[in-house]
Amino acid sequence: TIKAKDGLRMTIIGAPGSGKGTQSEKLKRDYNVTPISTGQILREVSEEDSPLGKSIKSKLAAGELISDDIMLNIIENALNVKSNWLLDGYPRNPEQAKHLDKFLKERGIPLNLVLYLDVPEKVLAERVQDRWVHPGSGRVYNSLFSPPKVKGVDDITGEPLVRRSDDKDEEVFKNRIQTFKQNTFPLLKYYNDMGILYTIDSPNSDDGYVKIKHVLEEVIKK
Ligand code: AP5
Repeated sequence: TIKAKDGLRMTIIGAPGSGKGTQSEKLKRDYNVTPISTGQILREVSEEDSPLGKSIKSKLAAGELISDDIMLNIIENALNVKSNWLLDGYPRNPEQAKHLDKFLKERGIPLNLVLYLDVPEKVLAERVQDRWVHPGSGRVYNSLFSPPKVKGVDDITGEPLVRRSDDKDEEVFKNRIQTFKQNTFPLLKYYNDMGILYTIDSPNSDDGYVKIKHVLEEVIKK
């Protein structure tokens, strides 16, 4: 059962391009949750001139998952706030989920909600083709659906937007989808069995967010 009286502690699961980052920003705006994106943290570490930075960079470029050991460290450091957070991209497999559960239960702050963004594979590829990001903040745009005010430029800082290196290569994108199916699908059963999984059909419109809001209102009431 879900108890959200003491704050939201949630995670968003979804394939590459399903809209995890986009929905996280809306939830931050409306529910005051702090998004924690492991992809964004990894992209920042990958710019460091260190053995860890280099090894992460090559994994990201290939569309492969980073090892559980490294991820556990990253997430434990990132979870320094007790409540009102939203994980984007973590956990990614049942091992990470079991470890997260243990870590949170030891602190008396179990997850209270898991959202799964269910988007058809064809739509994923289309969205990612037109995605532009601001590297410094991770802000995400789409040249068709949510373009920046000025083409190629971040709305807030005026800095240039780029395409992610793992979006540009079709083979790498296919690999990310494959990795998602193999590793992340089993998570859905895990959280369904716990009774905290909500699946959101998230087509090419704002409908997805409307459905997410309904779920949140229901959870917060409890
Ligand atoms: P990560 O950054 O998490 O990438 P991902 O899972 O591939 O997801 P994306 O960021 O591509 O997509 P998104 O779902 O956030 O979609 P977005 O909102 O941008 O991870 C990157 C890499 O890090 C992984 O490949 C892995 O190597 C590693 N990693 C991360 N976490 C890890 C972990 N726990 N363990 C091991 N390795 C890990 O939306 C996409 C586009 O669509 C945008 O242009 C957006 O504007 C547009 N859009 C979104 N919603 C809509 C909508 N409703 N209608 C129209 N357009 C929309």
